[in-house]
Amino acid sequence: MKNSLLNKHLDKIKGVNTPFYFYDLELLESTVNAAVNAAGKYGYKLHYAFKANWNSTILEIMHRHGLGADCVSGNEIEQALLHGFNPQEIVFAGVGKTDNEILLGLEKGIFSFNCESLPELEVIDQLAKQQGKKANIALRINPNINAKTHHYITTGLEENKFGINPWEFDSAMDILRASENLELTGLHFHIGSQITEMGVYTDLCGRVNEINTYFAENGFVIPHLNLGGGLGVNYHEPNGEPIPDFETYFGLVNKFLTPFSYQEIHFEPGRCLVAQCGSLITRVLYVKKGLNTQFLILDGGMTELLRPALYQAFHKIENLSSTSLTTEFYDVVGPICESSDCFGKKVELPVSKRGDIVALRTAGAYGQTMASRYNMRDLPEEVYG
Ligand code: LLP
Repeated sequence: MKNSLLNKHLDKIKGVNTPFYFYDLELLESTVNAAVNAAGKYGYKLHYAFKANWNSTILEIMHRHGLGADCVSGNEIEQALLHGFNPQEIVFAGVGKTDNEILLGLEKGIFSFNCESLPELEVIDQLAKQQGKKANIALRINPNINAKTHHYITTGLEENKFGINPWEFDSAMDILRASENLELTGLHFHIGSQITEMGVYTDLCGRVNEINTYFAENGFVIPHLNLGGGLGVNYHEPNGEPIPDFETYFGLVNKFLTPFSYQEIHFEPGRCLVAQCGSLITRVLYVKKGLNTQFLILDGGMTELLRPALYQAFHKIENLSSTSLTTEFYDVVGPICESSDCFGKKVELPVSKRGDIVALRTAGAYGQTMASRYNMRDLPEEVYG
């Protein structure tokens, strides 16, 4: 592949047993720098969404650049603490927090429980009371905004399981007023992932402004607003657009969000920081003739990179070995016993043969973290360059 950003790492990549994840740390550093600088212009705080990728090397970089942590399980909180993240920079979201996870958050004194329902609010209240602690609460609001992304990764519509709906606000306020163990410190919004239409964020800011005003009118002084994550990346052009347009994103929020002067603005980016630096590296096992097609059978599949099978997600496929000037069309598939184990149909690639190295690009986010041991396969290793 002539123009791949991976070419400069080819010597390293060639020497490793496939399949594995390769991470370009130089690109990661530049991406995180770009995000931190763009957010810093407006004093915005970033919490890195661990679910995208919680490898130690990546977390060390996030920590070094001063990001906080966005966690969705007790184990992610432990991982954050292990990597030196300050509990006061850890936010904890998720619709199904267990008692033990809540107790862990209370014990460590995390920055906020991003609370997703009234029953959860009541349980945190009881547990905090039991422990003699005060829990910082950010209400995760369901703002009923269409993120215009894949329906599996849309989270901010009334039909979704996430967040507290507007008709529950008054009850939430009653619980908060009555409790001595809950402190409302934030309002939290996350409406979906891989959002590429910037207009969605304009809509979101409008709703946040309304809801923020409503809480203020009801006497709550809320120190922070958290706009979640969701900024999309260019899966089609990983070589042309390796770094997302953070300037436009944060600039837009700065233009349309009207916080009170005492409010800090937080974000929880995941994908936009790590997706482009990672690739799944595989090898061609067989080129098999089908009825109307030919299959390129790789040694990596849906067990290593689930997104295409789960969301019909597109990942650019590059043959890094072939020097052929002729191209052919292939159905690129993995070795797993499932028909959905397919990375792309009728993919145009240079003539490919057994042993060629094939990269699935833009796989640094929700790649390795969603890998499984289905078919009793080994989990993929990671290599850094
Ligand atoms: N904050 C909350 C509350 C979230 O639920 C998520 C992602 C994020 C932040 C980070 O969003 P990001 O900046 O990465 O878009 N597995 C799917 C993506 C699921 C996203 C889940 N929540 C995929 O592979 O596309």
